[in-house]
Amino acid sequence: MTQPLVDPFQRAITYLRVSVTDRCDFRCVYCMAENMTFLPKKELLTLEELDRMCSTFVRLGVRKLRITGGEPLVRRDIMTFFRSMSRHLDSGALEELTLTTNGSQLERFAADLYAAGVRRVNVSLDTLDEEKFARVTRWGRLPQVLRGLDAAQAAGLKVKLNAVALKGFNEDEVETLTRFCATRGMDLTWIEVMPMGDLGNEDRVGQYWSMKDLRARLSESYTLTDLPESTGGPARYVRLEETGQKIGFITPLSHNFCESCNRVRMTCTGELYMCLGQEDMMDLRPALRNHPGNDAPLEQAIRQAIGLKPEGHDFDYSRQRADGQVSRHMSHTGG
Ligand code: 5AD
Ligand code: SF4
Repeated sequence: MTQPLVDPFQRAITYLRVSVTDRCDFRCVYCMAENMTFLPKKELLTLEELDRMCSTFVRLGVRKLRITGGEPLVRRDIMTFFRSMSRHLDSGALEELTLTTNGSQLERFAADLYAAGVRRVNVSLDTLDEEKFARVTRWGRLPQVLRGLDAAQAAGLKVKLNAVALKGFNEDEVETLTRFCATRGMDLTWIEVMPMGDLGNEDRVGQYWSMKDLRARLSESYTLTDLPESTGGPARYVRLEETGQKIGFITPLSHNFCESCNRVRMTCTGELYMCLGQEDMMDLRPALRNHPGNDAPLEQAIRQAIGLKPEGHDFDYSRQRADGQVSRHMSHTGG
């Protein structure tokens, strides 16, 4: 029997997030610069290599696979990869195949995703105001994303919205977004903006707004009941008694979830990041490329990487100059 992946702190690694491209059709101000230099194509893992990589992780006990980017749905022929991964759902080895998307391509791909076994999607959406949406995403158009949400729900996909909380930007949309989600039966999770890349406050967007303040704002309109922790992920949930809705808060800057961390992240070039907040990574690509047809070296490299997973991260806004800042962009590790 293959030994499951367990890190030095006795955490079983059962969740892999995989970025399949660093490209995106949006340029969100907190995520990317306007003029991004993207990786040359030869650096990317091919779809076949992505398959081999993910299948190896599944063999080592990964039960949940989340496909990210950049924007995963702009990768050419990505549906081939989704269709191929669905064999692990069919065999029962994989419990869930899912993705995080900006929604721009959902109108095209929702039905294909469902057919490949995807049942849930996370859609990033920070505002329901067309002008503000264009401002924060620079290149995005809101109506296209809204059509994507419709298509996803029509195809039978359960949709969760992720909104990045931005001071002075969507503070006034807490209620609007909550009601939008209630009406459409979608979950909503708020995310604290993280100090990634050369995050500035361009256009006066991209400033830190704490979950504590957001909660306070929400409790002006609703009665909040804390729900017990469940997912092993960074989100904390409350129930709004007035609507019965569950609202999530992700505070990546606090250490409260590190002890239950079950995940690792792989970039589109095959680098494995053991922790979102640390620079530690292992390049798995040589083990993959130098040994075609033999997965043993890759398995060994993965085990070695998991053996280096740190206990936690070092983000801290309270210290001077965003200590613990990680210089890579979010699109590199897929959030
Ligand atoms: N802080 C918080 N969330 C971010 N995302 C991208 N950059 C940041 C950041 N600096 C989020 C997107 C999306 C996911 C891919 O990551 O909004 O939800
Ligand atoms: Fe693209 Fe998502 Fe980054 Fe926006 S946050 S630029 S949609 S990857």
